[in-house]
Amino acid sequence: MARVTTHKIKQMKAKGKKIVMLTAYDTPTAKILSDCGIDIILVGDSVGNSLLGYESTIPVTLNDIIHHCAAVSRAHPKSLIVGDMPFMTYKVSIEQALENCGRMLQEGGAEAVKIEGGGKVIEKIEAVVDAGIPVMGHIGLTPQSIYELGGYRVQGRTAETAKALVETAKKIEAAGAFSLVIELVPSDTAKLITESINIPTIGIGAGPYCDGQVLVLWDMLGLFDEFNPKFLKKYANIRSVITEAVNQYSDEVREGIFPDKEHSFELSEEESGRLYGRT
Ligand code: KIV
Repeated sequence: MARVTTHKIKQMKAKGKKIVMLTAYDTPTAKILSDCGIDIILVGDSVGNSLLGYESTIPVTLNDIIHHCAAVSRAHPKSLIVGDMPFMTYKVSIEQALENCGRMLQEGGAEAVKIEGGGKVIEKIEAVVDAGIPVMGHIGLTPQSIYELGGYRVQGRTAETAKALVETAKKIEAAGAFSLVIELVPSDTAKLITESINIPTIGIGAGPYCDGQVLVLWDMLGLFDEFNPKFLKKYANIRSVITEAVNQYSDEVREGIFPDKEHSFELSEEESGRLYGRT
């Protein structure tokens, strides 16, 4: 597979080819996703909930994402690498957005950034694109605004709020974004947004009509048995695979079964004899 570019992602919508995106936060999983031909690797701020033990994405810092993004880029994936701009790293001013998005490319090795929200964020998207940094927008449920939105709730449930999302999507497209994540909205709302813009939409909890789909890797692999939102399909039960392996290792160590001869290093007979004074 040739390296995926933002241009290819835009063409995929025109060609009617579905875009596949997953999150990754480290080198080995980024390698696997690239080998599987995943189009886009998102180094999401979901690393906060998934791997860092936070209850939301809000505590995640720019340095955290740069650290994980750099690990992903060391896998040299063919997939496009998108770095997620964390809470309050792009909203303060255009200058702040430019500086921090620049760091994501320069220090993190990202090839594009994802920026949540509409409204005043749109002028930041425009400036960042103008500086030559590709931007993926993100509307619907924007997790960095959960306190303002009143929790992890489905957005765009009424005709008015759905139309407002369409207008925001159009403005994000006009600002120069190359694609748009739509999170947690009804399928019909996502369909209308997708049909109203020329850049590809990538849905999570947004039904089947988006131009592509994204899931958080560790959610779809089944690492957490207590996280079961309606939109999540678990393609594996990695938690039980890990639990079984750890339990077996633990039993074998306690019973003296591991390490056996096969997993140990032996002295030659001569050296053993010399060691124990037999020769
Ligand atoms: O941080 C993340 O993983 C995301 C996706 C859920 C779109 O923003």
